[in-house]
Amino acid sequence: MTTLHVVLASDNAGKLKEFSAILSQAGVRMTPQNELGVKEADEPHGTFVENALAKAWHASNKTGMPALADDSGLCVAALSDAPGVYSARYAARAGRGQSDQANNAYLLEQLKDCTDRRASYVAVLVFVRFPNDPRPLIVEGTWQGEILREPRGEHGFGYDPCFWLPDLQRTAAELEPEVKNQHSHRGQALRALLQRLLTTQRVQP
Ligand code: IMP
Repeated sequence: MTTLHVVLASDNAGKLKEFSAILSQAGVRMTPQNELGVKEADEPHGTFVENALAKAWHASNKTGMPALADDSGLCVAALSDAPGVYSARYAARAGRGQSDQANNAYLLEQLKDCTDRRASYVAVLVFVRFPNDPRPLIVEGTWQGEILREPRGEHGFGYDPCFWLPDLQRTAAELEPEVKNQHSHRGQALRALLQRLLTTQRVQP
């Protein structure tokens, strides 16, 4: 299998490890954009797919290489899918601090009187083969759960301590990382991307 060198439009070491582990099966070798001198792109859009596409275009246009980008977040049914693309900055946008803990506290406060606790994690991945690729490959993974009334668990990050999984009878923060990857929105999206890369031979421009 030919090796395809791809720039990852993220500086997150955890994502690099997680993405590389799965996509190496399609002959993909990934380098994070900061190692190639590329700064993070703005994420000005209102949808996950637009932000992921903006990040992928940016990384590919700056390097001339194929690029992979992702955008993800938490969508809460009773809040019209907020915080959505603003998940990382949810509390900060309300002047309530910039941390995972602040985001969780603010979320629980917004849902204080709400009985509808349904929520989904969403991850969108975009792969472009070269700058200005007219056929970006786009996949989405979703993971359904409920928002607990109190945080539980020590693993994971972000909203994981509040994200309850009725089937597993645990929060996402109570799952070991490998178990979380088997179920999560990002794990699902990655496996879908792997299948698409293999079946469409998209890695061969
Ligand atoms: P990003 O796409 O890595 O920028 O993630 C956006 C934000 O969504 C994160 O900062 C978290 O607040 C939230 N988020 C996305 N995926 C997860 C997850 O797997 N667990 C917890 N929070 C997540």
